[in-house]
Amino acid sequence: MRILLLGKHGQLGWELHRTLQPLGEVIALDYPEIDLTSPDSIRVTVLKSQPELIINAAAYTDVDRAESEPEIAMAVNGLAPGLLAEQAKALGAALIHYSTDYVFDGKKGSPYVETDTPNPINVYGRSKLEGERSVSQVNGSYLILRTSWVYSLRGESFVTKVLSWAREQETLRIVGDQIGSPTWARMLAEATTELLAAGRDEVIGWIDERKGFYHLAGSGSTSRLDWARATLRYDPDKDSQITRTIMPALSADFPTPTERPLFSALNCDHFMETFNLRLPDWESTLRLVLDYTQ
Ligand SMILES: NC(=O)c1ccc[n+]([C@@H]2O[C@H](COP(=O)([O-])OP(=O)(O)OC[C@H]3O[C@@H](n4cnc5c(N)ncnc54)[C@H](OP(=O)(O)O)[C@@H]3O)[C@@H](O)[C@H]2O)c1
Repeated sequence: MRILLLGKHGQLGWELHRTLQPLGEVIALDYPEIDLTSPDSIRVTVLKSQPELIINAAAYTDVDRAESEPEIAMAVNGLAPGLLAEQAKALGAALIHYSTDYVFDGKKGSPYVETDTPNPINVYGRSKLEGERSVSQVNGSYLILRTSWVYSLRGESFVTKVLSWAREQETLRIVGDQIGSPTWARMLAEATTELLAAGRDEVIGWIDERKGFYHLAGSGSTSRLDWARATLRYDPDKDSQITRTIMPALSADFPTPTERPLFSALNCDHFMETFNLRLPDWESTLRLVLDYTQ
C-alpha cells in the first residue's frame, strides 16, 4: 500500500512515520514540502504521490496564536482537509484525518460521545470543526479520529513543559479546572496502524465500511493539575527537581487570548466496539513513557 503521510515532523506524524513502515511505502511530508494553506500545493502533492491512503496528521495546533491568525488556521485545519478528501475520493483512496476535543464547548460534564453536538468556543476549535465537516461532506472513504491532550517527549508538550518548570521553579501553579484525557502520540499512532493492519489488503473497503467519526484518546480523565503531579511523581530524575509545592490555580488566573473548554474528556467506546482497540489509561501510559525513555 502507498501511504501519503502529512505532518511528519509533528508529535503524531513523527510516531506514525515509524509505526506505518510495515504497512507499505510511506511518503512522509511536512511544511514546506507541502503547504496546506495552498490548494495548488495539495493537489500537486497528492497527484504526484498517487496514494492509496492519505493520513493527515498535519494541523495548525497553536491554540492561542490561532486567535490572531484565523485565516491561516482555517486554511490549514478547515479547508485543506476537504481538499485532501476530494483528492482521495478522485483517486479511489481513503483518508484518515485527526480532529480534537476542542470542537466541544466543555459544558457537558461527562465524557463526550460522537453524537454530541459540537460547539467550539475558540478559533482553533472552529477551524477543526470546519475540517471535520469538509471531510465528511465529500463522503469518500474516511475516518475522522478525534483525540485530545496529545503529548510526547519530543519537542514541546505539557509534559515536557512541566518537567522543565520543575527544574526552574520551587512553586508551580497549575490549573485544576480543566479536565481532559491525556494521549501519548505513540499510542495514537500505534492504534491507527493496528486498525489499518486489521484491514490487510482491503484497507480502502475496510475503512469505507466503517467510515465516520471516532473518539480515540487515553482512557480516563484528569485535571491539568493532577497530570502535572503525576508527571513529577513518575519523573525518573526526581533529584534534579527543585519544585517543592504544586498549587492549584484556575484557568481565569492565567489570562490567555483563548477560552478553552473546561471539560473535554472523550468517551472512546465507539472506537472500541468497531476496531476492538482501546488506548490504555492515561496514568499508566504516562508512567511508561517516563520510565521507558530513561
Ligand atoms: N496537540 C494536541 O494537544 C492535540 C489535541 C487534540 C487534537 N490534536 C490533533 O491531533 C493532530 C496531530 O497533532 P500534533 O500535536 O501531532 O500536532 P503538531 O505536533 O503541532 O504537528 C503538526 C504538524 O503540521 C505541520 N503544519 C502546520 N501548518 C502546516 C502547513 N501550512 N502545511 C503543512 N504542514 C503544516 C506542522 O509544521 P510546523 O511545526 O512547521 O508548523 C507540524 O509538523 C492534529 O490534527 C491536531 O489538531 C492535537
